Amino acid sequence: MFITFEGIDGSGKSTQIELLSEYLLENRIEFISIREPGGTDIAEQIRNILLASKNEMNGITELMLFEAARADLTEKVILPALKQNKLVLSDRFFDSSTAYQGYGRGLDIQSIEKCNQLATQNLLPDITFYLHLSPEIGISRRKHKDLDRMEQSGLEFFKNVTDGFLELCVKYPERFVFIDASQSKEEIFQIILNIILDKIK
Ligand code: ADP
Ligand code: TYD
Repeated sequence: MFITFEGIDGSGKSTQIELLSEYLLENRIEFISIREPGGTDIAEQIRNILLASKNEMNGITELMLFEAARADLTEKVILPALKQNKLVLSDRFFDSSTAYQGYGRGLDIQSIEKCNQLATQNLLPDITFYLHLSPEIGISRRKHKDLDRMEQSGLEFFKNVTDGFLELCVKYPERFVFIDASQSKEEIFQIILNIILDKIK
């Protein structure tokens, strides 16, 4: 089973994946946990290019780099793990490209969806948890002052990204689970765990 976590920066994705990983370890359920962009040698190198604030690039270059990282991760890590019947947890997947490069940077959504399919060999998540948080709160949760290249995009950008995620929830209701991320960590974790345990059964 392939489970992805989406939401703006600071929405609590890593926190929930950590809580879930602890639960899965304790209960001896085999899983792997990955984050995008990253997870392979090539994808980690691409991550550095994408996040370094000195690198100027247009939205198309940005999209292609995210997709290249994703193609490598899908082929080398995700598909093999799914073949071994492992649970795969991913901090972001292709919905981030649709929301950030499509709704955020303004690239054509249909073209992005085609790139997503190509990069992932048509792989679809079984469940996508969308952690919904207002961009203002997301920004206020940032602890570090050194913002990466993506985080330097302003409030307006993150509002558009949020609109994008909300549209994706409506467009793909069979896969998306909307979660109000302003609840406590524990409340959110219980919702996520119940849905996963239900699906595993
Ligand atoms: P993301 O991975 O989506 O960027 P994180 O899990 O790193 O988000 O969380 C960002 C910050 O917000 C961290 O300091 C984390 O401890 C805090 N945080 C996460 N979930 C919650 C929550 N439900 N309520 C309040 N703060 C939270
Ligand atoms: P990261 O620090 O991993 O994200 P987070 O702040 O959520 O923990 O940084 C990844 C950044 O890249 C994040 O700002 C979202 C962005 N991104 C895209 O713009 N498009 C994509 O396809 C992906 C996977 C990420």
